[in-house]
Amino acid sequence: MNTAVLQTSPQRAFAIGAPILELDSISLSFGGVQALTNISFNVLEHEIRAIIGPNGAGKSSMLNVINGVYQPQQGSITYRGDRLAGMTPTRAANMGISRTFQNIALFKGMSVLDNIMAGCSLRVNATFLETALQLPRARREEAEHREVVEEIIEFLEIEHIRKTPVRRLPYGLQKRVELGRALAAQPKILLLDEPMAGMNIEEKQDMCRFILDVNDHYGTTVLLIEHDMGVVMDLSDRVVVLDYGKKIGDGTPSEVRANQDVIDAYLGVAH
Ligand SMILES: Nc1ncnc2c1ncn2[C@@H]1O[C@H](COP(=O)(O)OP(=O)(O)OP(=O)(O)O)[C@@H](O)[C@H]1O
Ligand SMILES: [Mg+2]
Repeated sequence: MNTAVLQTSPQRAFAIGAPILELDSISLSFGGVQALTNISFNVLEHEIRAIIGPNGAGKSSMLNVINGVYQPQQGSITYRGDRLAGMTPTRAANMGISRTFQNIALFKGMSVLDNIMAGCSLRVNATFLETALQLPRARREEAEHREVVEEIIEFLEIEHIRKTPVRRLPYGLQKRVELGRALAAQPKILLLDEPMAGMNIEEKQDMCRFILDVNDHYGTTVLLIEHDMGVVMDLSDRVVVLDYGKKIGDGTPSEVRANQDVIDAYLGVAH
């Protein structure tokens, strides 16, 4: 692992640090389908890490293991040096892991503002009763959430559509709103499953800029799945490559690009 090189990047607000997440020997199967076989890699604090690989390689399954949606049959997850007995979606949310989905998961009939506000609810501390009775902690939390949401709306430049129902927005903007919903939980680690899929070039450029800005402005660690190799090479500090559920490459974009297994399995097909 070549962290020394990464840390020398001059313009970076948050220097890349120690591993925040370590996946060790993860195996996951669904009946007879082996989705992941003995996968190990780590994610360093403040880095942008990409997972690439052909369709069905196990990329989304990997994110689902990290946020506790799937329980691997084998392997362990370590967060900031603490090895976890098992991950659940609630534990992941409490630890500051937030995500977007391969297929947009928003309340399509609700406004942009309400959708992003809903993302805050992942970290509510007030009890249901405190909220219902509008007791001080619940009121304070709601005020805090509104502040966070306003900042995100400004940050993502979606002020002009704040009241628009999500279903009326073009696809690229819906993806941006979904990023906003994930950011509303003020995550430490952001998992993005194909944030640029289906976008035109201009929308992709916008999304790239926002991902870089989130990383730079909030120091958020990003783990993203992406098919567009140009985007992956531009955006990520390090790349892990999966193929048929196995890890076949791991390194900086240029290391991965030069890896013959990766060229054969993936890049060779794409180019
Ligand atoms: N819930 C599930 N039940 C059964 N099989 C599953 C399930 N989820 C994933 N799989 C299988 O696991 C393998 C990996 O799927 P996964 O969705 O993780 O791939 P992917 O790399 O994200 O692919 P894509 O690029 O098409 O999104 C596939 O063979 C898939 O059919
Ligand atoms: Mg997928």
